[in-house]
Amino acid sequence: MKTKGIVKGIVSNLVTVEVDGPVSENEICYISAQGVKMMAEVIKVNGSLASVQVFESTRGLKGGNEVEFEGRMLEVTLGPGLLRGIYDGLQNDLTTMTGVFLKRGEYTDPLNRETLWDFTPIAQPGDSVVAADWLGEVKEGWLPHKIMVPFSFKGTYTVKSVKPAGQYNVDTVIAVLTNEEGEDVNVTMTQKWPVKVAIKGYKEKPRPNKIMETGVRVIDTLNPIAEGGTGFIPGPFGCGKTVLQHAIAKQGDADVIVMAACGERANEVVEIFTEFPELIDPHTGRHLMERTTIICNTSNMPVAAREASVYTAMTICEYYRAMGLKCLLLADSTSRWAQALREMSNRMEELPGADAFPVDLSAIISNFYARAGMVVLNNGETGAVTFIGTVSPAGGNLKEPVTESTKKAARCFYALEQNRADQKRYPAVGPLESYSKYLDYPEIKEYLDKTVEEGWVEKVLTVKNIIRRGKEASEQINILGDDGVPMSYHVNFWKSELVDFVILQQDAFDAIDALCPLERQRFMLDLILDICSKDYEFEDFEKCREFFKNLINELRQMNYSAYESEQFWAYNDSVKKMIA
Ligand SMILES: Nc1ncnc2c1ncn2[C@@H]1O[C@H](COP(=O)(O)OP(=O)(O)O)[C@@H](O)[C@H]1O
Ligand SMILES: [Mg+2]
Repeated sequence: MKTKGIVKGIVSNLVTVEVDGPVSENEICYISAQGVKMMAEVIKVNGSLASVQVFESTRGLKGGNEVEFEGRMLEVTLGPGLLRGIYDGLQNDLTTMTGVFLKRGEYTDPLNRETLWDFTPIAQPGDSVVAADWLGEVKEGWLPHKIMVPFSFKGTYTVKSVKPAGQYNVDTVIAVLTNEEGEDVNVTMTQKWPVKVAIKGYKEKPRPNKIMETGVRVIDTLNPIAEGGTGFIPGPFGCGKTVLQHAIAKQGDADVIVMAACGERANEVVEIFTEFPELIDPHTGRHLMERTTIICNTSNMPVAAREASVYTAMTICEYYRAMGLKCLLLADSTSRWAQALREMSNRMEELPGADAFPVDLSAIISNFYARAGMVVLNNGETGAVTFIGTVSPAGGNLKEPVTESTKKAARCFYALEQNRADQKRYPAVGPLESYSKYLDYPEIKEYLDKTVEEGWVEKVLTVKNIIRRGKEASEQINILGDDGVPMSYHVNFWKSELVDFVILQQDAFDAIDALCPLERQRFMLDLILDICSKDYEFEDFEKCREFFKNLINELRQMNYSAYESEQFWAYNDSVKKMIA
């Protein structure tokens, strides 16, 4: 019997319900009002009163409205067909909806129940299996989508039967398993999982040991992110968070990409909708959308569903990770999610933490980031979820609680700087403040030694040092004037400008420059370090400036030329002559 309740109080989308039976936190309920049923989630229980957050507009809701509790948490439906999907935070399929917005109380099916999938069995009768073990496979586009023992299954099962190869829809029973009590249970191609609970079902979660290539030089060369790693991009409004994240989404070396657009303006999301289906994946030459799922909850959608959207996105990634795939999760912006938490916490009149955010904000953010990672599955295969979130601190203040909490949780920090953006030095990632803790991992160092170049990390540190010395020189020049400092200051300054213009800056809107593969990054870094290792003599600082400006010009042209093309080598020759 379901627990029922009656609406007692309403503060915006926080509704107090008097219940007639047991309810638990995070349980889902439906409130009936004006002929529709609105989904809500229990966020606190106090005696016979439950505080629930409604995922929709509560207009017209009244005291006395009836509530029915479902006895389950907010769940995501998992199965073939999630890729190419565009969903809202509650996994409503936005491509099947009728109008521009979903009607209140309208919930759509996330999976197409009719589509037939080409199924191939993996498990055999008699096999012993546990949750997350692979029973069979379907081709989702070109990706092998594993049909697994549902994650909720506890204990060991024996496979009784598996469907032979053939075409089936998601609701077909593709395997029958026998549990330890001798009872048979059916497995279809779809299962549900509560979004706030991390999917386990793997053997171990070791530290990441390789890097995920993004084609963005400031990331891959200077502060690489690990496959299965975490990073975040804080930056004031208009500094390029979204552009950078989209570049990573388009170019990141991953099998599956999930983008969570959280609380940002709707026109940006519309851009994703219209742009992404057109894009070609540089790794496979196929449509990018074939391996992408978009979850969106824009600023004009109900605030409570923002939280749902990031968790839904993470759960979908974990699902594909369990298939042995590399997944990349991008969330823009996690600040909007945190603001939603703040609104609810304030409505519940909880004791506020810093800037009125909930006291446990740090823990919530850490727990979320902790769900990313590389895992070794029960069968020895590996899978990964790499997570990069953006943070939009008000006024660019990096001391605010969301940035500080995220800094504790994420291992890469890509700080976008207003003054770099103002100078159009894109991507505006600050080279000295930003960091990647993965550069300190011996296993990552070893990986870079092997795959990029022996001693690579030392080279990265050298180039960072050039930037640092350039900054110091520039400060001295500003104080003492061009003529007031030794020539070496000018040389150091211009060496750092060279690094800035050729390595750090990258045109996200140029077909060639936008994507710089690691091999090319290695070539360019070696070239730049070679140039910077030389001593230069100049008559005066203007000659120095002229020399480096010409050099920068040639090198930038090189960045815009196809790698190893005739043109590319022509610029390379010209550079070599200039420094000879
Ligand atoms: N890498 C880049 N290359 C060229 N232009 C950029 C780049 N990054 C940002 N921009 C410019 O800055 C504008 C704002 O970027 P956006 O990502 O929307 O900022 P945010 O998400 O931080 O508010 C873009 O519309 C674009 O004109
Ligand atoms: Mg943005």
